[in-house]
Amino acid sequence: MTTEQKVIVVTGAGGGMGKAIIEEQLKQGNLVVGLDLSVTTLSGLTHEALQCFEVNVLQEERVNDICQQVFEKYGRIDGLVNALGIAQAATPIEQVTMDEWNRLMDVNVKSLFITAKAVVPFMKKQQKGSIITIASISAVRPRPGLQAYIASKGAAESFTRGLAIELAPNQIRVNTIHPGPADTQMLGQFAAQGADVEQTKQSVFVQSVPLGRLVKPSDIAGAVSYLLSDAASMVTGTTLHVDGGRGL
Ligand SMILES: NC(=O)c1ccc[n+]([C@@H]2O[C@H](COP(=O)([O-])OP(=O)(O)OC[C@H]3O[C@@H](n4cnc5c(N)ncnc54)[C@H](O)[C@@H]3O)[C@@H](O)[C@H]2O)c1
Repeated sequence: MTTEQKVIVVTGAGGGMGKAIIEEQLKQGNLVVGLDLSVTTLSGLTHEALQCFEVNVLQEERVNDICQQVFEKYGRIDGLVNALGIAQAATPIEQVTMDEWNRLMDVNVKSLFITAKAVVPFMKKQQKGSIITIASISAVRPRPGLQAYIASKGAAESFTRGLAIELAPNQIRVNTIHPGPADTQMLGQFAAQGADVEQTKQSVFVQSVPLGRLVKPSDIAGAVSYLLSDAASMVTGTTLHVDGGRGL
């Protein structure tokens, strides 16, 4: 490990955005630790600087153990990128079950508490760090039927701001990225049950982006890269919209 190399923990590593974030970080020469329920999508990415763990990020003890192992191995954790998440199929509120609400809140919000709590002690030791959460532009530009998902993403943004003010004295920066509709397997999951997914992507999602196309995972990887870098050393508590203008 060289002094310039950063150690970055990425959750949702096997997802569309997670994989692109990892590829970009490896390209930059950083060391990456990827966490996901499944990392099979990363099987083609055999790289000595990448270590993957198949783990449910809601298992607090396992996440703590992994972060402890990472710190013992490399002596630092520079970045945490929360790129995990689950979608909600557009559903009227009266049909949304308590289980669905709880699951969205657990995966999209509680996981952020667990991962931040796991890395912050190490970042405090080094008095430096960058935490980034991928939330969603839907938190501020909602669509009907996604009430639980939207609430979870609003909570993610508020949690970021709360942590940013708390951790600023430790030089730990905490930021949110709000993607617009993005070209990953998750997008189709927002369609209402029974809807034509491909047609919904075109007629609803692409149409809603002023710049005229879906967000690519590489667009998000670029924004993550900036927020992890020293070029963003005075950026904290902010939300970067990478949405082709969808939030306007
Ligand atoms: N795709 C979009 O249109 C879009 C738009 C705005 C925001 N987002 C957000 O961007 C983030 C990344 O989404 P994506 O499009 O890459 O989706 P994706 O479905 O491709 O990836 C999400 C990943 O999270 C993992 N995951 C889910 N629950 C987990 C858990 N408990 N423990 C560990 N891993 C878990 C999944 O296995 C999956 O690999 C999510 O937070 C999503 O809500 C997506």
